[in-house]
Amino acid sequence: MEFNIAVLPGDYIGPEVVAEGVKVVDAVAKRYGHRFNWQYDVIGGASIDKYGVPLRQEAIDLCRKCDAVLFGAAGGPKWDRPGKRNPSDTALPKLRRALDLYANLRVFKPSPALANASTVKPEVVRSVDFIMVRELTGGIYFGEPRAIIEDAPGGRRAVNTMTYTEAETERLLRTAFALARKRSKRLLSIDKANVLECSVLWRQTATRLAQEYPDVELRHMYVDAAAMTLMRSPGSLDVIALENLFGDILSDEAAVLLGSLGMAPSASLPGLSEGRTFGLYEPIHGSDPAQAGKDADNPIATILSTALMLHYSCGLDAEARAVEDAVNRVLERGYRTWDIMEKGKRQIGTREMGSLIAEAVATGN
Ligand code: IPM
Ligand code: MG
Repeated sequence: MEFNIAVLPGDYIGPEVVAEGVKVVDAVAKRYGHRFNWQYDVIGGASIDKYGVPLRQEAIDLCRKCDAVLFGAAGGPKWDRPGKRNPSDTALPKLRRALDLYANLRVFKPSPALANASTVKPEVVRSVDFIMVRELTGGIYFGEPRAIIEDAPGGRRAVNTMTYTEAETERLLRTAFALARKRSKRLLSIDKANVLECSVLWRQTATRLAQEYPDVELRHMYVDAAAMTLMRSPGSLDVIALENLFGDILSDEAAVLLGSLGMAPSASLPGLSEGRTFGLYEPIHGSDPAQAGKDADNPIATILSTALMLHYSCGLDAEARAVEDAVNRVLERGYRTWDIMEKGKRQIGTREMGSLIAEAVATGN
């Protein structure tokens, strides 16, 4: 089959990890007889440097024309402005919203080879296999008003707004229920309904929808208790639904279970559908300016994101599994980037890690 993929490498380590994702998918193409047409554009700081704005309509249109988007990481200190939001950081939320990618799936299934790489006990890590379904185009990330008010009485004042319509809440929760139905039929809905109106609406909506999914067992948990559960008994979790900011925070915490943020992939979808669907695929980590240009960072989160792309946007399940298996085999052989390095293992760079995984895909062993 043939696919058109928009590639937005972004800034700092973004291009480095995306290059390895492309390398691995090209190995898939060769082995299984597919064709991937990679269509590059810029976003974030790279777009500011080239065009003066962090996200152009042309880049959004390119994404819309393609079967999927592969994204690296955008933003960084080069584009900081004192007392203001860094404009390079605004591109990604805008793009997600422009493409209506409201359902962000973050997959937490530690590689068996990395059970000892986490600061959490290995027997706990081995029990982990869950997916966060994070709302991605609403909430406090987008709510108006938002501002720093310079001349407020008593000094400067900042305001942000958390806002959700019932419809936004419902479509995200429906995605989570549908996913739970395909897995263990358990859904954990996270909120802060003891404090926030947005969460009261969220909890009511989840409870109402549960009647339409009688085969799925729904539980509710406050976000503070959920943060603790993630470290104390993550093996009890399966599908987790949560709003945008909670999902941002808890997904970085959950990455501890994988051994590193560099191991956590994601898929941003316009909901779940039975067949192939458009989507944006990206590692959950940022642009890591400190490591950029050193050929040091871990490309595995990006490579695992391409496996999600093969599954959701290309309908290539065997190929997706081939990528995941190749990652596990290379880790089992003892190769590590710095972030997952353990005693007795062999430390390698970004490009070598990508090449070893591509080779494992190509040869099947
Ligand atoms: C993420 C990132 C983004 C977010 C940033 C880069 C805007 O942290 O994907 O988790 O907050 O959503
Ligand atoms: Mg984040």
